[in-house]
Amino acid sequence: MKSPVYFDYAATTPVDPRVLEAMLPYFSENFGNPSSVHRIGQRAEAALETAREMIASALNCRSDEVIFTSCGSESDNLALRGAAFAQRDKTGANWILCSRAEHPAVSKTALQLEKLHGFQVEWLDVDETGMVTPAALEKAICDKTALVSAMVANNEFGTINPIPELAAICRAHKIPFHSDAVQAAAYLDVDVERLGVDLLSLGAHKFYGPKGVGALYVRKGTGVYPHLTGGGQEFGLRAGTQNIPLIVGLAESLRLAVAERDARTAYLLPLRDKIIGSVLESVAESRLTGHLESRLPNHASFVFKDADGNLLLQLLDAAGFACSSGSACKTGNPEPSEAVTSLGFSRDWALGSLRVTLGASTAPADVENFLQALPNLVEKARALKSG
Ligand SMILES: Cc1ncc(COP(=O)(O)O)c(C=O)c1O
Repeated sequence: MKSPVYFDYAATTPVDPRVLEAMLPYFSENFGNPSSVHRIGQRAEAALETAREMIASALNCRSDEVIFTSCGSESDNLALRGAAFAQRDKTGANWILCSRAEHPAVSKTALQLEKLHGFQVEWLDVDETGMVTPAALEKAICDKTALVSAMVANNEFGTINPIPELAAICRAHKIPFHSDAVQAAAYLDVDVERLGVDLLSLGAHKFYGPKGVGALYVRKGTGVYPHLTGGGQEFGLRAGTQNIPLIVGLAESLRLAVAERDARTAYLLPLRDKIIGSVLESVAESRLTGHLESRLPNHASFVFKDADGNLLLQLLDAAGFACSSGSACKTGNPEPSEAVTSLGFSRDWALGSLRVTLGASTAPADVENFLQALPNLVEKARALKSG
């Protein structure tokens, strides 16, 4: 059987062969512990520090501002917990501002800080395109705010937030600002000086790097408490022997993403726009989710009224297309995703969500075939739901 066309690059990407080649020597030949004093350890340490410098160069920061973690979720957790506790100790402030459209690695961490540790979550409104506007932040920020978190680009509906403007507001109030760039780094400029952020999360598997490795940028002077204590690795912020092959893979995949960003974008943007235009025209009662222009260049997402999104995914899979839905549930009684409902869609729309994300292997013919197949499959999903 032919393997399905992969339209789920926002979920994960395959490892680029050039990245794999860079990683391979560090599994067995150069296996040392970078904290060891001997030469075998020093070789591993040299690879670690080269990787750190490569990340710093991509982010336009100092290498001692880059903390390696085990994934994008861990970077978000370290940023939120680490900065919330440190800021509360420093100023007494205990409010965390973030939107309901944040990835659960941010929103659930904020909720746990509220439930277990005496913080209070203030939900920032997003507009109908899913954007956190400077006006919404201005309205919510106050001297009780310990930390603000707003993602660079949304995973479910692709909208890009006005990060430099949001960061400027936080800076004027002297409040640390975290941004999750896990989706964004594959396609957008993540220069932390231009963005103005204090903390920025990355995860390698969204840009053709390996799973299980991420990084957190921590601006010098930003108070952060470690969430993994132990040895003094990662400047005392994240204990644990560093995973050198994965870190080398993260650095090489980010280097390639920066070097090839314009070419990757130029290839995918017209395909994305073709999908958006064609789906809205050919599928009755369909709406785009997220912003039409301020969105990731590989990301198209929709809601279809009265269609079960999970059923549609199964029909698409059977027809040879691997896509995803905004709905987190796989079976049973699915609830619409918080991110999609934050856009103002009622349940009968929000349950019928579809995300189509493109990448290196996407061929124009795959897009054509998908666009031909989709309208009938949506109608089938509607009929099966009501039947
Ligand atoms: C915006 C965003 N943040 C965080 C994560 C979590 O990243 P990881 O899977 O590396 O933990 C994801 C992954 O889907 C994401 O899209």
